Amino acid sequence: MLLSYDHGIIQIASDVLGEIAKRRILDKKRNETFEISVFLDKFLGKYHHTKEEKFLFPFAVKSDPSLVPDVDALISDHRRMEKLLSDSVSISKAEGAEADLYAICSEIAELSASHINKEERRVYPLIEAHLSSEEDHEIYNECKEFTDRNFGYDYLRNSESFAMIMQSVVLGPNYMKTDMSKYVKISMPGSDNSA
Ligand SMILES: [Fe+2]
Ligand SMILES: [Fe+2]
Repeated sequence: MLLSYDHGIIQIASDVLGEIAKRRILDKKRNETFEISVFLDKFLGKYHHTKEEKFLFPFAVKSDPSLVPDVDALISDHRRMEKLLSDSVSISKAEGAEADLYAICSEIAELSASHINKEERRVYPLIEAHLSSEEDHEIYNECKEFTDRNFGYDYLRNSESFAMIMQSVVLGPNYMKTDMSKYVKISMPGSDNSA
């Protein structure tokens, strides 16, 4: 599916924040917490959520009006996540407030996992079921144009590298929880690995 690869990147980065909270290692990894928060604030708030809300969800509710409550719930998760990320950026930039920052990092990891689960298991498959290959092309082209214009053509690849580097820096080179092969790589609709 079109935006599924984003989810793998989001899972990696938000899981690192969750592990920082679980292991109570802010004293050593505060800078990384700040950098990951800044990254997710842009990748989720400006990039991924915008693509879903501008291009994917309108199509979903038009083709299946029974999805309206699910989509409304997903959008309210987006706003909650954006608030958590902006708090995480501002708190991690300064000193102190460790307890608050731990709570925020845990919530980011939990919300991210449950939100992606809802999208991957329920909403995305229903969208796919309604999507003709023409519409798939159209959404693909809209997303690509939006990305290239606002973020640059290599934004996704750079974002994946950043998430992997941060995971390795914070949790060690052998840590791997998110299996990226589970997430479909973006490709032109109609080729083998597009949905
Ligand atoms: Fe979403
Ligand atoms: Fe998503």
